[in-house]
Amino acid sequence: MLVLGIETSCDETSVALVNNNDVILNLVYSQIQTHKKFGGIVPEIAAREHLKKLPLLFSQLLKETQIDINEIDGIAVTKGPGLIGALLVGVSFAKGLAIRYNKPLVGVNHIVGHVYANYLAYPELRPPYIVLMVSGGHTLILKVNESMHIKIIGRSVDDAVGEAFDKVARLLGLGYPGGPEIDKLAKEGNPKAFNFPRPKMYDPDYDFSFSGLKTSVLYEIKRLKNAEIEELPIKDLAASAQEAMIDVLLHKTTKAAKDFGIKNIVLAGGVAANSRLREKLAEYTPELNFFIPPLEFCSDNAAMIARAGMTLLESWKNDGLRLEPSPNLFEMIGDEW
Ligand code: KG4
Ligand code: ZN
Repeated sequence: MLVLGIETSCDETSVALVNNNDVILNLVYSQIQTHKKFGGIVPEIAAREHLKKLPLLFSQLLKETQIDINEIDGIAVTKGPGLIGALLVGVSFAKGLAIRYNKPLVGVNHIVGHVYANYLAYPELRPPYIVLMVSGGHTLILKVNESMHIKIIGRSVDDAVGEAFDKVARLLGLGYPGGPEIDKLAKEGNPKAFNFPRPKMYDPDYDFSFSGLKTSVLYEIKRLKNAEIEELPIKDLAASAQEAMIDVLLHKTTKAAKDFGIKNIVLAGGVAANSRLREKLAEYTPELNFFIPPLEFCSDNAAMIARAGMTLLESWKNDGLRLEPSPNLFEMIGDEW
């Protein structure tokens, strides 16, 4: 089945052509340089950028793949969760194509897309498995059962972990996005130099809380400055803050796997790029299997949306022109997605 995927939920504009588990082409335009100067994503600017870039990427996709749009079996577009203006651009564009070429159109839950991204990298993967989804927008633990029923079993009650990386980075005077910067610096720092709190780590649930970390880092910086030290130990602060976040993520994810008797764990989202997270995964519990898709499928992309949409199209679903963006689509993951 040949599916066109469209993703515009946040700050990546992406279009892709996917044939079963094979990605023919996945084009991703990251708006990061545009938002960088504001220190975070500006929703209105994101929507305008999508509007500008989406038609260009679509033309590029057709040109590079040489595929006649009439040959595709259907169109899949992210319907939510995400920024309303940004989602609207993708959904409207997809509707236009669906009418023009008379193709079925399905709206895909972005989070479900992240789950299906695994099949692009590991077609042999079979449920059940646990997904740790860590990005700038979400921190979730998902349980995927034998029949691909996806359930959110844990989430951050405040900041997403990527957001926490970005906020700590800002306190340390690093650029945006902060995750990669902290990752780099932390390699030369001592993760045990500061003992930052690991909130909710031993709670019986699978939820997280990351908003307190930036406050702890802030207090530590103030304390160090008051002590009139010559230079802030930025590398040690970065390494210690990163370690605190990773410890909680790994503890909760492996606990979920053990509690439910599930052996496979999958990573998704931009924070999955973190080298310390990847390094510690394997040593955490050798008896579990870890799947880490390549970053192009971990961070936001249209290939995963096409792959998830394919399963809907295969069951003859067609949202057609009734499709509307659902920015708060969050809880609704399960049989009905
Ligand atoms: O999934 P993603 O690319 O975009 C969305 O959030 O939609 O994730 C971006 C987040 C940012 O917060 C960024 O700081 C974080 O992922 N990130 C990292 C690393 N690379 C990106 N965090 C920690 N370590 C990294 N190497
Ligand atoms: Zn995402």
